Amino acid sequence: MYKLVTAAVAAAMTLAAGIVSAEPVKIKFSHVVAENTPKGQMALRFKELVESKLAGKYVVEVYPNSQLFGDGKVLEAMLLGDVQIAAPSLSKFNKYTKKLQVFDLPFLFKDMTAVEKFQSGPKGQELLASMESKGLLGLGYLHNGLKQLSANSELRNPTDANGLKFRIQASDVLAAQFEAIGALPLKKPFSEVFLLLQTKGIDGQENTWSNIFSKKFFEVQKHITASNHGLIDYLVVTSAEFWNSVPDADRAVLNAAMKDAIAHGNMIAAEKVSSDRKRIEDSGISTILELSDAERAKWVDAMKPVWAKFADQIGQDLIDAAVASNN
Ligand code: LMR
Repeated sequence: MYKLVTAAVAAAMTLAAGIVSAEPVKIKFSHVVAENTPKGQMALRFKELVESKLAGKYVVEVYPNSQLFGDGKVLEAMLLGDVQIAAPSLSKFNKYTKKLQVFDLPFLFKDMTAVEKFQSGPKGQELLASMESKGLLGLGYLHNGLKQLSANSELRNPTDANGLKFRIQASDVLAAQFEAIGALPLKKPFSEVFLLLQTKGIDGQENTWSNIFSKKFFEVQKHITASNHGLIDYLVVTSAEFWNSVPDADRAVLNAAMKDAIAHGNMIAAEKVSSDRKRIEDSGISTILELSDAERAKWVDAMKPVWAKFADQIGQDLIDAAVASNN
């Protein structure tokens, strides 16, 4: 009897010790934008879902505003195990695949419905796995929206951009796009854009209504052209090594949480296209210029030759599938 009790006590102690010592797995989610953005809100929703459904087993630490890593470093850090989830814009994967450059081609998608159609179609889904051999796994696409051009002088015609310096994301397609209109592209981290605009280190930039509003770019730019000439969307990405180390049952929960969080972020993205634009408009600080069809056609003519330059790197099949999503 005594032995039995001792054994039971020992077993209970081992169990308790096991529970106490089992630290939750830490998932670090690093991003560069503010919290009041589609990506910021998506990350917080993911945290909330994971920490309620896998309480005590996983914690999600969200680092917004480039606090932990900028987009230039985050993928390397991910491969080293220093961060588990990030969602860089599709323009920032150049080192790992040339195929995602398709998303940077100017005037490729006529609206976000076309973007959604391409991303959820077979070619878009294939791209999620295009960096697996490099250790990166795409978990899904997240929307932000179409890009607008801003500067301190009015950009009505492509010639108005001649000689102006524009900050771009680290993308060769975007460099070619600005060169095509005689402008000077400068690859700079997102975290430096406001200061560069404020100190006139650059004349202009391209970004979504959400980023222009949440990072206050409109406060240091007199004019915004509602050009919708390109896209900023994200690839939510993780390291294959980390993802595969998660037990199957937990991974299913993480996947479901991610799907839900992305849907939440996409809903916010759709709403911010008009609400953040309106906030900028209401501020009265910068003017918003709408292009006539004829003016817009000039921008298309000037920028579209960039497609041919990158067709070999991207693959004509991908470009064709993206174009077809406009129908
Ligand atoms: C940028 O660098 O302008 C964007 O990619 C930032 C972001 O994550 O939306």
